[in-house]
Amino acid sequence: MKLIDGKQISASLKERLAVQVASFPEKYGRVPHLVVVRVGEDPASVVYVRNKAKACEACGIKNTTLVLPEDTPEAALLDRIRELNADDSVDGVLVQLPLPRHISEAKVIETIDRNKDVDGFHPYNVAGLWQKTPHMSPCTPAGIMKLLEAEGVDPKGKRAVVIGRSNIVGLPVAKMLLDANATVTLCHTRTVNMPEITRQAEILVVAAGRAKMVTGDMVSPGCVVIDVGMDRDEDGKLCGDVDFDSVAPKAAAITPVPGGVGPMTIACLMENTVQCFLNKQTEK
Ligand code: GUN
Repeated sequence: MKLIDGKQISASLKERLAVQVASFPEKYGRVPHLVVVRVGEDPASVVYVRNKAKACEACGIKNTTLVLPEDTPEAALLDRIRELNADDSVDGVLVQLPLPRHISEAKVIETIDRNKDVDGFHPYNVAGLWQKTPHMSPCTPAGIMKLLEAEGVDPKGKRAVVIGRSNIVGLPVAKMLLDANATVTLCHTRTVNMPEITRQAEILVVAAGRAKMVTGDMVSPGCVVIDVGMDRDEDGKLCGDVDFDSVAPKAAAITPVPGGVGPMTIACLMENTVQCFLNKQTEK
């Protein structure tokens, strides 16, 4: 079994970006600028937003973190986003999810300028992925594809199984695997006899949001296992959607939690920020 070191792969990606960004002041007169908005104090969001700021620093990207109170009215948040859309010095706008319940995530996502949508969540960018037209790729699915590539795993002709059908991970990663010529099966909470399906997988991507739901008996020897989960076990310890101890001995390669997919998401966010910046330069 090989441990897939997302931390290391993301670090080399960020190093490459840092070299590229260092050339921007001379070429374009400034560096890219990412604005991250956090509403409220969700503990996971506090950590994620801090990690995004750290990654910006590592890449030489300017970062502004806006923290708004939990009771910020939806209209006020949307106005704030429109201001950022109109601000020419801002290249990327990200609103950390989840949002407080009184705010519509759909409205927020639609309000972000699609050309500044570094998350790749805007309907225009989602459509671009499905229609193969130019778009921002969602960061976690893109990060998973990069992990596979770095490990020398070509999805072409392989049987890939994805568990989870969210807009953020399951659906787009299934589409990307399909475009990479894998044969893809998409499972979810209503899937009957899931172990029978997962045992067919040569690549298994688990984004179900349930601690340790994939166990060793569900995986065939030689499978490449990508664990997108970020959960707590019964002792409150951080774990993934995959029961690492029973699955790892069977897997050809597996991502740890933490240190697998998570760092790749952020590295892809940095890439998207640079891409939004460059798109703007060529538009001028
Ligand atoms: N919350 C968890 N993951 C993400 C992400 O990739 N982007 C945003 N905006 N919020 C998240």
